[in-house]
Amino acid sequence: MAALGVVGTAVAFGWVLLRTVAGQVTAGGLMLFIQALLLTQQNVGEIVENSAMLYGTLLYMEKLMDFLDARPLIADTGRLPVPAGSPGEIQFKGVSFAYPGGREILHDVTFALRPGEVVALVGENGAGKTTIVKLLARFYDPTAGAILVGGRDLREYDLAAWRRSLAVVFQDFARFQLSARLNIGVGALEHADDLDRIRRAAEQGGADEVIARLPQQYETLLGKHFEGGVDLSGGEWQKIALSRAFLKDAAIVVLDEPTAALDPRSEYEIYQRFAELVKGKTVLLISHRLSAVRMADRILVLDRGRIVEEGSHEELMRAGGLYAQMYRMQAERYADQPVPAERAP
Ligand SMILES: Nc1ncnc2c1ncn2[C@@H]1O[C@H](COP(=O)(O)OP(=O)(O)OP(=O)(O)O)[C@@H](O)[C@H]1O
Ligand SMILES: [Mg+2]
Repeated sequence: MAALGVVGTAVAFGWVLLRTVAGQVTAGGLMLFIQALLLTQQNVGEIVENSAMLYGTLLYMEKLMDFLDARPLIADTGRLPVPAGSPGEIQFKGVSFAYPGGREILHDVTFALRPGEVVALVGENGAGKTTIVKLLARFYDPTAGAILVGGRDLREYDLAAWRRSLAVVFQDFARFQLSARLNIGVGALEHADDLDRIRRAAEQGGADEVIARLPQQYETLLGKHFEGGVDLSGGEWQKIALSRAFLKDAAIVVLDEPTAALDPRSEYEIYQRFAELVKGKTVLLISHRLSAVRMADRILVLDRGRIVEEGSHEELMRAGGLYAQMYRMQAERYADQPVPAERAP
């Protein structure tokens, strides 16, 4: 494109110069011509640049329109209010699930989460752990079986109220291009202006130290989409996402790989305080770090969409099944590490 412009300009120049020499064009005419040529060049350049920008904007608009056109996959018809405090026992009863148009991912999954209990869910990549979280948050409904909460089908409950009673840290948590305060505040918008509360949540999730180092602390714009924004490392973003969940004083806490990006010290600190952080709450913890899973009241082992083992760490180690095998493999791998919880029993 640029080369073409140079060649074109050179040809036009040569032609006018020849005509000037031949006396057909005056010196004033030549000056006028040069100015017109430069102006044309500049305008054509701008047109090309603006077209590229317009194209980019149209692509973005298409995404926006798709988003605005999106219809929820689930029926939001439940009216049952969610009881304040603990909504009672959560039961998966013979739950099977296939993503729309896909193969079955979960097969006849049955388990319970009792109020105040910490239950860990472990299993290999693709076993269906995150899918269970998506069903619990009602992004999808089971294709067979049911999820019961306090004895009633989850579909009967008011959807917005149900989601309010859950605090979920997803494996692919969101990074909002907003201030640090609002990044935590979106966890519970009614508290977004309560800086004391936001600070407390940040301390719990480990984001306070990260935010203290930012140029405008809690008012620093995070992310690189807007000018002046400060980007964070993967682990720093994860601390923000954890703090977001702690801001919401929810009865049920679901953590899907909440510390996968954290350094060993940060992870150790979070799990040291874990019992205190989730006191009185019903917790579903998903983690590949089996040392963190040990302290759960109960561990569920998911293998290719089926619950294959269930019990405490000691029970599962004694049973010598899939969990014991995974645990031994990890213990061996981390045997040299100085963190005491990482050692084999
Ligand atoms: N949105 C989706 N549409 C179709 N299939 C999906 C979708 N999300 C996940 N799957 C499929 O469902 C299966 C289970 O995925 P899931 O994310 O629940 O696994 P996971 O146990 O959380 O794995 P990991 O340990 O890697 O996080 C995978 O085979 C995956 O390909
Ligand atoms: Mg997952």
